[in-house]
Amino acid sequence: MTPTASGYGASGYGARITGVGRYVPERIMTNAELERMVDTNDEWIVERTGIHERRIAAPDETSSTLGARAGLAAIESAQIDPATIDLVIAATCTPDGMFPAVATRIQHAVGAGHAGAFDVNAACNGFMSALSTAVQFVAARTSQRALVVGTETMSRIVDWTDRGTCVLFGDGAGAVIVERAVEGEPGRIDALLLRSDGSQADLLWASGPCTPGEAAMGAMGQEARIVMDGRSVFRHAVNALVETSMEAVTNAGLTVDDIALCVPHQANRRIITAMADRVGLPMERVYVNVDRYGNTSSATIPIALAEAEADGRLKPGDRVLLAAFGGGLSWSAMVIEWAGVRASRAGIPTGILAARV
Ligand code: COA
Repeated sequence: MTPTASGYGASGYGARITGVGRYVPERIMTNAELERMVDTNDEWIVERTGIHERRIAAPDETSSTLGARAGLAAIESAQIDPATIDLVIAATCTPDGMFPAVATRIQHAVGAGHAGAFDVNAACNGFMSALSTAVQFVAARTSQRALVVGTETMSRIVDWTDRGTCVLFGDGAGAVIVERAVEGEPGRIDALLLRSDGSQADLLWASGPCTPGEAAMGAMGQEARIVMDGRSVFRHAVNALVETSMEAVTNAGLTVDDIALCVPHQANRRIITAMADRVGLPMERVYVNVDRYGNTSSATIPIALAEAEADGRLKPGDRVLLAAFGGGLSWSAMVIEWAGVRASRAGIPTGILAARV
């Protein structure tokens, strides 16, 4: 590996993604429904965010149940025995409770033997942080096969009286399987970068059961929910995504022209187009599904990866740029050589695991 000031590049990490899956709740909440809840309208939401609808978890669904379904889909696409998974990492900022980790419930639900399991919380940057962690475990041979899940029930922490935030978020889960790269076969991690700036933490945050005193209470005197300075977050997001993406591409020894597909965090279509424009990527090479799901926080990138694979937008050997941004502030970029998933190589998924949840 070639050490750089900010990570490793050129020869890459000895890990690859061999399976992808997603699960989103059935219930669709349209902009028209939001019009009946707060002072907003479809035209404003579509023009300012690109979002048309989002999914909302059923009362009996949690981040662990959504994550387990996405995990099973990823296991099925990799065509592996779940008992061979030895590490489960769940990225979530909306866990079922303060503990245990959502990852342990997912480990049990998918039948991942006695795999090590823990959660990562880096808000919307959570999946990239969890994936980076799994890559290190696999590259160091501490893990043979890891399941990485991004799963969120954002509808449970959204302030449904705040039109500035409630129109943006949705629920869902996505997952990937990470295994060792194989000499002579496509698939590896070319570059990864994680960054943060805690001095800007108050621009986007949500209180919880351990938040002290008045900070725990919202303006309505109720438990506070997501609080955001939308304009400032927008500006920081575009700058951070552009800078980190360019750095990751350079660290991978590539140029933007080598990137077959960019799969960015899906928060706002305008953030994505501004980023793509400044990086020099035509929108045909950028995956966008924020119109259908809104911002599902740590689930956006794995959901988008699973859909891009299903849509035939990812081919073995493709260079894929992932880039995320979220509360913290926290952001990241990764360049991957796509391995292709076993199910798509074989044609059709097996369906053998469908009955587990
Ligand atoms: N419907 C109608 N009007 C709304 C509205 C809504 N849902 N939300 C805000 N407005 C109003 C504001 O009150 C303001 O009105 P005013 O001019 O009378 O004061 C006006 O629209 C413009 O508000 P502003 O906040 O400047 O809009 P914007 O163009 O910045 O868009 C966001 C707001 C939230 C969509 C945008 O700032 C954004 O996407 N920020 C990043 C958020 C994000 O991605 N967060 C997660 C990062 S992981």
